[in-house]
Amino acid sequence: MAGEALVRQLLAHAERLAPACIADLVAVEAGRAQALALRVGPLYASFARQRLDAPTLATLGALAGHVRLSLALRALVDGATVNATEGRPALHTALRSAIGRSNVARDARAAALAARGQMAALVAGLRDSGVTDIINVGIGGSDLGPRLVVDALKDLHDGRFRIHFVSNVDGSEIQHVLRGLDPARTAAILVSKSFSTQETLLNGAVIRDWLGGGERLYAVSANVARAEAFGVDASRVLPIWDWVGGRYSLWSTVGFAIALAVGMDGFDALLAGAAEMDAHAVEAPFDANLPIRHALVAVWNRNALGLPTQAVLPYDQRLALLPSYLQQLVMESLGKSVRADGQPPGVATVPVLWGAAGTGAQHSFFQALHQGTDVVPADFIGVVRPAHPYREHHEVLLANLLAQSEALANGHADADPHKAHAGNRPSTLLLLDALTPHALGALLAMYEHSVYAQSVLWGINAFDQWGVELGKRLAGEVLPALRGESAASDAVTRALVEEIRARG
Ligand code: F6P
Repeated sequence: MAGEALVRQLLAHAERLAPACIADLVAVEAGRAQALALRVGPLYASFARQRLDAPTLATLGALAGHVRLSLALRALVDGATVNATEGRPALHTALRSAIGRSNVARDARAAALAARGQMAALVAGLRDSGVTDIINVGIGGSDLGPRLVVDALKDLHDGRFRIHFVSNVDGSEIQHVLRGLDPARTAAILVSKSFSTQETLLNGAVIRDWLGGGERLYAVSANVARAEAFGVDASRVLPIWDWVGGRYSLWSTVGFAIALAVGMDGFDALLAGAAEMDAHAVEAPFDANLPIRHALVAVWNRNALGLPTQAVLPYDQRLALLPSYLQQLVMESLGKSVRADGQPPGVATVPVLWGAAGTGAQHSFFQALHQGTDVVPADFIGVVRPAHPYREHHEVLLANLLAQSEALANGHADADPHKAHAGNRPSTLLLLDALTPHALGALLAMYEHSVYAQSVLWGINAFDQWGVELGKRLAGEVLPALRGESAASDAVTRALVEEIRARG
């Protein structure tokens, strides 16, 4: 069946299901909770509270077949030029598994293993050096991934290093991080694939001066020459390559801070979890494939149900940074209004992704999730076994997690319209057995593969980000105006510059 016919069929499913609510679907489909659940290693996922049924899933599966999703996943791991606008493969899977069968994938894997060896040596050297504090300087993918994983795995830190992160060009961040640190016992890692990112270079220069030279300065970059010119000795520059996208890079040397926090064993376990998900994504059939199911549900919610946003609600404080990390992964990858072939996609693409950790979020924006006029599909994420001794806390946390997903789906009838909950609000529940490096690696790789699968379903390039360039260029033009060296070309910007200069 042609693509348009499948899309029409999906819209027909949406119309057919419109009078039913999720509770009805659960009531009529015996065994739905089991049938719509998947497990991959330490990760269990329930899609039973999505607003769809078996015929819908069959059409979504046909759509996946129509766009040749299996071949597309194979092409990704084999190093095909999936990033056409930049003429590159996206071989983040080669950083953690040997799944790629081509020479290009094998060469990438060999380079990644060699760099891992270099990184392990630097980790060992730093552990013997008397350094107590590490500052990771980077932004976007050179910050969010390491920051998330270092925070999420804090129960496994051996206490050898305190890890700090500086990303913003707002000087107050670096001021507060440097305050209280001793330059003689601090090392900094300048993480920038391009080594041309304004924020990182400015923060890096301050730290280089604060450290009193380059002795404890490290870098991760695809542009080794630039890092050296900046003052980092070649022996302390770890390589990364143009075939790793920034937002897919935490598995590479960009994860240096992770390895310092949890050791090389912890870092390897993170990679092993991701590798398990890689094998599953490429090999499992559609109807048993977790990232593909996740992607199909995302496309269903966006295009058939017309839901404009997506919430991510981790019920584990250690995953509080997951929504920020996923904002870059999902919105920088899928925030496109043009197909890879240059044509408009014809359907809505990326939803606005947002969220925060439960239960705190229940006391802020959950009111809108339950009774607001927009329906917001949610990914709830829970952890079965805690890493703390407060049993009652954990029981209450999990009870809240399960209750919120139930309340959103089933609603509550009440004669008082202010107290009625319409329900029928979809969610997916992702459960990790425990927040281990392995499980975290599997979870993050699941999201990566889901994002890629969504990009294939929409026909867009998940690996470029041209939309961030215009603002960067304009900032370069506004800067001289702010300094009084020239006039801004735009009338509104000019007025704002005058206001700032008058008050500054
Ligand atoms: O501006 C966006 C971006 O290019 C992201 O894609 C990237 O993760 C970030 O900037 C940082 O880039 P770099 O690692 O080259 O400093």
